[in-house]
Amino acid sequence: MRLLIIWGLALGSICTAGAQTQPQQQWPYDYQVEKNITVSHSAVVSAHPLASIAGRLILQEGGNAVDAAIATQLALAVVYPGAGNLGGGGFMVARLANGQQIALDYRETAPAKAHRDMYLDSAGNPVTTRSLDGHLAAGVPGTVAGLFASMKYAKLPFSRLIGPAILLAEKGFVITASEAANLNAYKADFQRLNTAPTAFVKDQPWKAGDTLVQKDLAHTLRLIRKKGAAGFYQGETAANIVAEMKRGKGIMTLADLKNYKVRERKALAFNYKGYTIVTMPLPSSGGICLQQMMGMMENYPVAEWGFHSPRAVQLMVEVERRAYADRAEFLGDPDFVKVPVARLTGKKYLAARMADFVPGKAGSSEATKAGTFPESEETTHLSIIDDKGNAVAVTTTLNGHYGSRTVVGKAGFLLNNEMDDFSVKPGVPNMYGLVGTEANAIAPGKRMLSSMTPTIVLQGKQPLYSLGTPGGSTIITSVFQMLMNTLEFGLSPADAINKPKFHHQWLPDEIAVEKDFPETVITALQEMGYKVVKRGPIGRSEIIKRTPGTFVLDAAGDKRGDDSAAGY
Ligand code: GLY
Repeated sequence: MRLLIIWGLALGSICTAGAQTQPQQQWPYDYQVEKNITVSHSAVVSAHPLASIAGRLILQEGGNAVDAAIATQLALAVVYPGAGNLGGGGFMVARLANGQQIALDYRETAPAKAHRDMYLDSAGNPVTTRSLDGHLAAGVPGTVAGLFASMKYAKLPFSRLIGPAILLAEKGFVITASEAANLNAYKADFQRLNTAPTAFVKDQPWKAGDTLVQKDLAHTLRLIRKKGAAGFYQGETAANIVAEMKRGKGIMTLADLKNYKVRERKALAFNYKGYTIVTMPLPSSGGICLQQMMGMMENYPVAEWGFHSPRAVQLMVEVERRAYADRAEFLGDPDFVKVPVARLTGKKYLAARMADFVPGKAGSSEATKAGTFPESEETTHLSIIDDKGNAVAVTTTLNGHYGSRTVVGKAGFLLNNEMDDFSVKPGVPNMYGLVGTEANAIAPGKRMLSSMTPTIVLQGKQPLYSLGTPGGSTIITSVFQMLMNTLEFGLSPADAINKPKFHHQWLPDEIAVEKDFPETVITALQEMGYKVVKRGPIGRSEIIKRTPGTFVLDAAGDKRGDDSAAGY
């Protein structure tokens, strides 16, 4: 009860500016997952109800969608430690009410001491645990720099936006059943990969309803509130990161942290049957692959064929195969490698790519050039549309669940294991049996290729959808399906993300389907000659649809997790 009162007072102090806002006495001890809401002003949807509520409170205080995106990301860093982060990186795609399109790249970079063969043993064989576990797996984090770069488009002071995150870390919040299960599942990793006790490990197993308090993280957040990005990249926090590196034989230095730079990229925008798709350019492979896949789809009447019709699924599988083959061969950090983007996305080229497509017959990956996408699937997405006409889509990541599982001692946040998104050894199959390429080889200061695809759809000049998902290499095909499900098959936002998904990534040459994928379609695909394998859930997608000409918003969070919408 005492904590409830503290929370009421504390939240009262962060909610006072909004005329319509009531302090929520119950937060964060009695929150609900809201899978699907319809509101008439502004909406946020993210991987955790408390993070979505943090964003909504900021919107109700008069903040815009970018303010809310900053507050939601900071809250996710506390309440969704598996993927929300300070120690990772991400991308923000936004379309502002004034028509401006934004693509902020705050992807992690390889430390200056990183080198091409750093994850090979003395015999030259990849040792993937080194690129996935612990200190050596971490790239230089970009998230905090990204949040401050986003401030250029925000309205409220940063001290306001970080308020909910500080409170959630300082006072704690009640964890869900899935968070408890994850913390228990990763306990041995936390114990093995940390040099200091962490908030994530306790003697008894975690259970739903336990309170997770993160005092060290609250301290780091307060340093960031006081000193800005320097509160992370310099001074005490940077010293803590480097001390952690020294204890764990990592290679990140004070200079790596100080030299980290956000890149403001030109958003990738293309037309699909009259809609404008605004998405992330390189170093995400997502935007280019999406443009390729939709370009290859454009000439087929898939809407007539219908959602989950075998012929529509087969066509989508074949365009996925071709885009992923190109991804593996050509894509990497554009600051380091020359990527023929215009050629890869040209209409003639895409038509030629489909020349060997045979309806009703499985294609083959064997004849296609080799490549790789060594990615794990834990990342997180948030979407926001506000009543000023701004739309934001942010995908951010630690890479694996809880990243490297290494918490920076005294600083309380997890470091990413994004180095594994590089090709650990170009030309040699990685741990998934995939082949890497030179374009995505490790080099100091280089950004590892990503699949994150935060995306906004415009109808005319107005935002129609903000959407995205985590899911490693399945991100691009999930976003592709969300776009096809909405724009072609007319599914509601909730159905567009929740209906069973499929995925083809060129290698291995098989279609992965979720367990509840229709058996009739599986049989039809097998009869065409495809190998179909069942797998666990694909992605955890978020989507908001705006009814054209109004601010009526339909916001849906994925059924596959604690994902939750908030709005007013
Ligand atoms: N770590 C997942 C991605 O960036 O694609």
